[in-house]
Amino acid sequence: AETQYHEFVIQNTPVKRLCKTLNVLTVNGQFPGPTVETRNGDSLVIKVTNAGRYNISIHWHGLRMLRNPWADGPSYVTQCPIPPGGTYTYRFTINNQEGTLWWHAHTGFLRATVYGAFIIYPRLGSPYPFSMPKREFPILLGEWFDRDAMSLLRMTQFTGAPPNVSIAYTINGQPGDLYRCSSQDTVQIPVEPGETILLRIINSALEQELFFTVANHRLTVVSTDAAYTKPFTTSVIMIGPGQTVNVLLTADQAPGRYYMAARAYESAQNAPFDNTTTTAILEYKSASCKNCGQFSRPILPVLPAFNDTATAAAFDAGLRGLSLVKVSKEVDVSLNFIVGLGLINCTNPNSPRCQGPNGTRFAASMNNVSFVLPRTTSLMQAYYQGIPGVFTTDFPPVPPLQFNYTGNVPRGLWTPARGTKLYKLKYGSKVQIIFQDTSIVTTENHPMHIHGYHFFIVGSGFGNFNPATDPAKFNLVDPPVRNTVGTPPGGWVAIRFLADNPGIWFVHCHIDTHLNWGLAMAFLVENGVGRSQSVIPPPPDLPRC
Ligand code: C2O
Repeated sequence: AETQYHEFVIQNTPVKRLCKTLNVLTVNGQFPGPTVETRNGDSLVIKVTNAGRYNISIHWHGLRMLRNPWADGPSYVTQCPIPPGGTYTYRFTINNQEGTLWWHAHTGFLRATVYGAFIIYPRLGSPYPFSMPKREFPILLGEWFDRDAMSLLRMTQFTGAPPNVSIAYTINGQPGDLYRCSSQDTVQIPVEPGETILLRIINSALEQELFFTVANHRLTVVSTDAAYTKPFTTSVIMIGPGQTVNVLLTADQAPGRYYMAARAYESAQNAPFDNTTTTAILEYKSASCKNCGQFSRPILPVLPAFNDTATAAAFDAGLRGLSLVKVSKEVDVSLNFIVGLGLINCTNPNSPRCQGPNGTRFAASMNNVSFVLPRTTSLMQAYYQGIPGVFTTDFPPVPPLQFNYTGNVPRGLWTPARGTKLYKLKYGSKVQIIFQDTSIVTTENHPMHIHGYHFFIVGSGFGNFNPATDPAKFNLVDPPVRNTVGTPPGGWVAIRFLADNPGIWFVHCHIDTHLNWGLAMAFLVENGVGRSQSVIPPPPDLPRC
């Protein structure tokens, strides 16, 4: 294992897309940002300098950061943000993880343009569970907006209004052929006829679950969120914000040019969304190819309809894990997290902060608590230094069927309360969580992410979770492992994990508008016995608020 050094300079950079130049935040002037390539067991030293105008921090999405929450990155959760002109050096070690993850800004909406791939190869000489192709390509799916991320945030979080939707989806930062002023920069992926390549697909979009497919080609999933899966062959994948999917693609079609394409999977009824399609071109390199060359029109794939919930659910249901660690049959702590939207009544409905329906502001919550981040310190710093009054540990557990969550929920139950509430977990406890969507405002797929952990997805379904009958159907044999799971719209999903990582770990919906409306909570996982089960001391350069 090695130690790798990287420098990230966060800076304002003019980026031209769709005929117009915007000044956006980038890392080292690159959009998307630099790819970090490491091996399992390596140590990373990443010095982040904030040369921009806003507070910011970087999250290494999906990395376990064992006993090291100081390197996790979410602003006001595990660290104060890095102020303009400041620096912070993230130091961490890759601990038994292999595959595709990513990194992104974790402050407001700034991850809209501040993100990149994080690739972990096996230790030298250690094999893959599939035959690893010679060539691989990251496919970062993103969203492009008509204004910078800070103005977007002002328009939604600060006004309580619905979000502005993107004006393009992107593949590796490029909208592609189907958008104006974008053809020349369309991403091209070269293949030799007969060759198999690995695509590392990452959904870094701010708000949108996406369908992804490649015309005429099959995709074989071999890994999700840096955890291997049994090979699963499909023509289309559904990927939620925060998730990654590694697929093998064999160039077994007539030599030519084929579009790979992504567009929205949008389950919320009547919600505005971007209904456009981003493309890249899979291009066969063959002397005998008549349909190659830049003037021949690539073949366009058929994507599922935007509201094709059945296809999305079938993709998730097809995933089977290859984990060497077995899922626990027993559970010590069983939690029900009711995730959903809501509306907060305003005392002054004419206030500019109340742009929701009928003079309300939009909110989102878990167990009816709309999460509020602290402003004067981070949760982890407050905990470690014993600063009182920053958070409480009374996050409310609720019974599984308090009311009919997915039915016609009475208006009186639409209003969450604001709070900074954590839930305490004992080191080593076996935890089960049921994430249950609601029909409040609208049902929606909520991609739920847990920092510092990955987890088994043991079951899911539509409607309300039934504790009497559903657990019998759980997959405790080969469930897939992920760090972000889509709660089906109007449905539920069950996960299990071992609470073996002490610290404070953020749990939230990876749709940024929902996160900023409060769809979040945090676990406080207490230290176990001795140093090897305890949080390491904070680094001396940890930023202060
Ligand atoms: Cu990828 Cu808390 O986020």
